Amino acid sequence: MENTNEYFQVVGGARLSGEVTVYGAKNSALKLMAASLLAVGESTIENVPDIADVHIMEELLTRLGCKCSYDRNALTMKILVPKVPGHRADYDLVRKMRASINVLGPLVTRVGKVEVALPGGDAIGSRGIDFHIKGLIDLGAEAHSEHGYVIATAPNGLTGAAISLDFPSVGATENIMTAAVLAKGITTIDNAAREPDVVDLGEFLIAMGAKIEGLGTPVITITGVKELKPTTHATLTDRIVAGTWAFAAVMTQGDITIHGGRPEHLEVPLDKLVAAGAVITTIHDGFRVRMDKRPVAIDIATLPYPGFPTDLQPFVITMNAIAEGNSIVTENVFEGRFMFVSELQRLGADIHVDGHHASITGKKQLSGAPVAATDIRAGAGLVLAGLVSEGITTVEDAFHVDRGYPGFVEALLALGAKVSRHI
Ligand code: UD1
Repeated sequence: MENTNEYFQVVGGARLSGEVTVYGAKNSALKLMAASLLAVGESTIENVPDIADVHIMEELLTRLGCKCSYDRNALTMKILVPKVPGHRADYDLVRKMRASINVLGPLVTRVGKVEVALPGGDAIGSRGIDFHIKGLIDLGAEAHSEHGYVIATAPNGLTGAAISLDFPSVGATENIMTAAVLAKGITTIDNAAREPDVVDLGEFLIAMGAKIEGLGTPVITITGVKELKPTTHATLTDRIVAGTWAFAAVMTQGDITIHGGRPEHLEVPLDKLVAAGAVITTIHDGFRVRMDKRPVAIDIATLPYPGFPTDLQPFVITMNAIAEGNSIVTENVFEGRFMFVSELQRLGADIHVDGHHASITGKKQLSGAPVAATDIRAGAGLVLAGLVSEGITTVEDAFHVDRGYPGFVEALLALGAKVSRHI
């Protein structure tokens, strides 16, 4: 992990109002970058956010022999992929950024060999890669783990297969899809993830010449082709960042217009915010969230898409901590995702965690204190909690937030928050 002492200082009490723009989704951009390995030549990915994880993926691709160039103003990433890329993703990168494992599928199918460090656990749970490996084995790869690395080989290429996932894992669906596009014959992925990020990756692959049907449904069918061509593709905008701003508006009783937000990718969360009392309107390039009273607490249970996203769960808990009434939040996707609750409790939140349920009793206001970010979303949630706390809150380990929110402090300042960054 990055070793920086940077922290956010937040002064409570501001009502956020104004406009924000949401850029490409981290969880799409990283996968598109990894998938560019599938075609020799230069692919161009547009609307790539300027965040730490993108630069880690850039480093990984560079170590694999690609030439990457990122234009910070245009938000464009160009990736020149050699005829024979390398095949190893080192532990120092994988531990910093789990999405590094997205090179598994592309490399095993194109190079016939891949070695990727096992990602291990992180602050949101144990996060195995067993479905990824089993999927590759179903496609004919040989795979084993050795010295902390998973090593997969397919010297004679892969062959299409019928694969069924025990859980609609986003990462496993992506690795299987990116391996199957160059396999011989037809692959079906049953119980596939339906997240917009998976659809975005599928569309990128189709633009490269892949044959894929059923994107966004539980059954994806891939007919292997011999070769893919580089392409140009714009990353889908970030529904989790858009959702974060929606919660920020509701929590601070504010009024935020979110340009680039796609309400159709946030149906369940936005319905819940309406139940909490928000007024949400769609505009030509996004949506606007207004709130003029204390929110009413909402019950949610996280589920794979189109269910309530686990990545927005910390914001629900934070909102419910200052809402009117009692609520229950159930986490079904990542077992460790309540870790940040103890930080919220330092701000005076009344939350009781029992297994994968959190019961929350809303209070009018929290009370500012020093807290620490444990992961990207929890970190952003704590900054928003600081906005609804009396006095000053400091949120340490700001680097977590930087991994997912480009220009977070600048955007908050433009909305009227009193927030600053310190070392
Ligand atoms: C992705 C997102 C993450 C989001 C999550 C769910 C990226 C970089 N991250 O993570 O922000 O919260 O989707 O929307 O895109 N599992 C296994 N074995 C496997 C794979 C997964 O047991 O081989 C379990 C995981 O531990 C977890 C659940 O399945 O409990 C869901 O994981 P998955 O959908 O794979 O999430 P990620 O792709 O890791």
